Amino acid sequence: MVEGRKQAKMAAAEAVVRLIQDGMTVGLGTGSTASLAIEALGLRMKRENMHVTGVPTSFASERLARDCGVPLGTLDTHGDIDLAFDGADECDPGLNLIKGRGAAHTREKIVAFGATRFVILIDESKRVDRLGTLMPLPVEVVPMAVAPVMNCLRALGAHPELRMGRKKDGPVVTDQGLWVVDAQFDAGIPDPAIVDRTLLDTPGVLDHGLFLNMATDVMVGLDTGDVEHLRR
Ligand code: 5RP
Repeated sequence: MVEGRKQAKMAAAEAVVRLIQDGMTVGLGTGSTASLAIEALGLRMKRENMHVTGVPTSFASERLARDCGVPLGTLDTHGDIDLAFDGADECDPGLNLIKGRGAAHTREKIVAFGATRFVILIDESKRVDRLGTLMPLPVEVVPMAVAPVMNCLRALGAHPELRMGRKKDGPVVTDQGLWVVDAQFDAGIPDPAIVDRTLLDTPGVLDHGLFLNMATDVMVGLDTGDVEHLRR
């Protein structure tokens, strides 16, 4: 990670950990920035003898939280999430997001949906005027439905591609055992709300990486180590 970028991510991570209070149930996001926050939370809990229960959004964050000494719950045992934190791949001026570079967006959305506060941790490189300009939109799909879902994405104006493994032959398999189609839009997503509804109405789509009107706060870490705090 470039040094300035790492410092920016760390600043955003530390900012959200300062918002966490003793006794809270906290949604633990996935990705490099959320991982920095999980590590910082574990350190603060040890230092201040704090009690927090984490609800992880992936096998990756579950394993990291365990290593960091953060006790874990599930939505069955800890359904009322006080604060969920997570990274994002893009954030527009309305605090709408694209997530899912790590293919964890379905669980991330489930955990964030019930949270009182959903705090996004990014650096400045993730800010865009229009969603879909830097990153493709990830769509989690039942394997037998890949062809019709790709046709649906083409009809929406996207160029869909099945995400392939890097250190595994064949498609990336999500924590749910499904596949991911990445949909690139030429000049960004013209109407994210239509894409959201159309995809959710398409059989075989589990969920997609558009997070519309969900973030309550965005912590933008700057290379200087400062944080710009955006609120809905
Ligand atoms: C994983 C995600 C991540 O939160 C998102 O990709 C940001 O990751 P990073 O903090 O590593 O840039 O959505 O599915």
